[in-house]
Amino acid sequence: MKIAVLPGDGIGPEIVAEAVKVLQALGPLFDLESAPVGGAAYDLTGHPLPPATLELAKNADAILFGAVGDWKYDALARELRPEQAILGLRKHLKLFANFRPAICYPELTAASSLKAEIVGGLDILIIRELNGDIYFGQPRGIRTSELPLFKGTREGFDTMHYSEPEVERIARVAFEAARKRNKKVCSVDKANVLETSQLWRDVMIRIAKEYPDIELSHMYVDNAAMQLVKAPKAFDVVVTGNLFGDILSDEAAMLTGSIGMLPSASLDKNNKGLYEPSHGSAPDIAGKGIANPLATILSAAMMLRYSLGMPEQADRVERAVQKVLSQGLRTADIYTEGTQKVTTVQMGDAVVAALI
Ligand code: IPM
Ligand code: MG
Repeated sequence: MKIAVLPGDGIGPEIVAEAVKVLQALGPLFDLESAPVGGAAYDLTGHPLPPATLELAKNADAILFGAVGDWKYDALARELRPEQAILGLRKHLKLFANFRPAICYPELTAASSLKAEIVGGLDILIIRELNGDIYFGQPRGIRTSELPLFKGTREGFDTMHYSEPEVERIARVAFEAARKRNKKVCSVDKANVLETSQLWRDVMIRIAKEYPDIELSHMYVDNAAMQLVKAPKAFDVVVTGNLFGDILSDEAAMLTGSIGMLPSASLDKNNKGLYEPSHGSAPDIAGKGIANPLATILSAAMMLRYSLGMPEQADRVERAVQKVLSQGLRTADIYTEGTQKVTTVQMGDAVVAALI
């Protein structure tokens, strides 16, 4: 099994190193090959997603990705910014289905900014469409306005866009996922205002007819943002577009105690995938050895399950993470009084030691 390892920027290299350590501890199962991506790749080659990195990703069975981005690249032209690397990989590899599970481990209930009774036992799955929406819609740009009221001033514009087949395929992914869970799908949109969302909702309702065993509900995104902090356990699977999913998945992350705990999988139609923590590159804490590697380690577990067909190995890794948490080990982001604060490397070592 060939795994492309793309550490990226900020804390990316530190957390990916720990996930690689865990994968190697499972046995000589993988052929791991690294390549630069994001700002790191820009510094080396002048492009955030160099052809060699894209080629490696295309030819691998799965991709383990760290994070990209740093303020020092903010002044670059958009197509050269680190973020284009992850957006480019998602688009080139047709990774349209993003799974972001938000699980609140019992040991971490106290680390959440919400009350224990609200988040205790939380287990929801956000499914975010990744290839469409305002992220990729054309036209977009910054130009001189022709509108009478604003004539001669600069204006920025983007296009929110979804076509029926794009909504159909993500709808099916969500209904299939709900079948393996509590059989509820909540589709989040802004159909009271946006045409794109009206189409999204119509398609959801049509595809739902193929899944009579699944209960489909709809929610406007503003209300969903509110319900996520009010009664998150009422959700099972949430399916939504690229932009709303970006925002809601960060919100859901905080329910679990820390965004440092959230893995994610981005899959194509054949379950080939890119696996990355839901959090970003956190340049403010890069190099300090304090980042939480668990989201990346749990992403590696998702990779074993979804792309590599190794569910037992995935279980082993997830059990080991569970064990280090119950041993009281915590990186700074999930530390609470009475637990033991550890570094990135110590956390990775502890997961390896807990593998049985
Ligand atoms: C995410 C990130 C990315 C996104 C950025 C880095 C382009 O926020 O994966 O959620 O907006 O999708
Ligand atoms: Mg995001």
